[in-house]
Amino acid sequence: MKLNGLRGARIAGTGRYLPERRLTNRDLEQIVDTNDEWIRQRTGIIERRIAAPDQATSDLAYEAAKLAIADAGLQPADIDQIIVATVSPDTVFPSTACRLQHKLGCREIPAFDLAAACSGFIYALAVARTGIASGSFDNVLIVGAECLSRFVDYEDRGTCILFGDGAGAAVLSVARDNGPGIIDTHFAADGSGADLMILPGGGSRIPATHEMVDRRLQYIRMEGRVVYKQAISKIVMLVNESLERCNLTRDDIDLIIPHQMNARIIQSAAKHLNLPMEKIFVNIDRYGNTSAATIPIAIDEAKSGGMLKQGDLVCLVTFGGGMTWASALLRW
Ligand code: UT7
Repeated sequence: MKLNGLRGARIAGTGRYLPERRLTNRDLEQIVDTNDEWIRQRTGIIERRIAAPDQATSDLAYEAAKLAIADAGLQPADIDQIIVATVSPDTVFPSTACRLQHKLGCREIPAFDLAAACSGFIYALAVARTGIASGSFDNVLIVGAECLSRFVDYEDRGTCILFGDGAGAAVLSVARDNGPGIIDTHFAADGSGADLMILPGGGSRIPATHEMVDRRLQYIRMEGRVVYKQAISKIVMLVNESLERCNLTRDDIDLIIPHQMNARIIQSAAKHLNLPMEKIFVNIDRYGNTSAATIPIAIDEAKSGGMLKQGDLVCLVTFGGGMTWASALLRW
């Protein structure tokens, strides 16, 4: 999406929060029929973080958001809009964003959740960017936050090995004249794949009942193999199309920050793109797949690890439930 002639946006601050408790592959060996070697080889995951019993998604979001606002040199009162990307909200309603607005002590500003599964954070970035471009907002807080452990079936070895809890946040502000910022965003969906990754129960289609719980429909279900194949081709397509729209080439890329869904998917996409793994950010070994939170957590880690230098060309790219997909190209 090009926003010619309108105000540009930049990431002015970032933050992340990971709960303390670690769930290792060895721990999972005690729960389901799996083993450390299989999980490492097939996914690249070694451990994930699990929220404390008294923590919900807005609590994780709050910790990450506080840091992002401070990193941007702002106060909560400076925030003009809050978007929380999540598929594991505190409650169906009110939104997690409203809880976050109150916890942070922000003004009475627009606050809403955005449900686009693993694509949620880049969707939020794209939406926030248009709000800044139109002149409606100067500083938008976008958060990817998930407590997926509450929706994981720890009797299903095909899914429980993958997911973890965490939150990442960014403040999007008006780009300074010709300064670094977001160059391109793209987001799309294809609902024909809606059942490939789904939390079937608890909504209006299958409301919460004893029978629903007996059938374990309150947990995430996934056609892993199908998602796996689609993910690789979509990531390659997204990176190529984003570069094409901006008249740039793969050689121009300094860092790709992909959604952390499976290390093998990431490696395979890198191979198809003919890019060395040094240019691809990976932290799935430590956190697993935290859905909407993986990309903002990764941006903040890459930044604090010195992997993002001023002027670097960074590509964010994701694919997930919906099916949804999205990319963003930014000049750091
Ligand atoms: O954000 C997007 C979210 N989702 C994804 O990105 C998921 C994408 N998919 C994947 O990451 C992979 O498909 C999985 C990691 C979920 C599964 O890996 P796979 O290489 O596709 O394995 P598979 O489902 O084809 O299963 C291969 C074998 C099967 O055994 P048989 O039938 O060959 O005897 C499974 O039963 O591995 C078995 N298996 C396991 N073994 C040990 C499946 N899960 C496990 C497990 N531990 N946890």
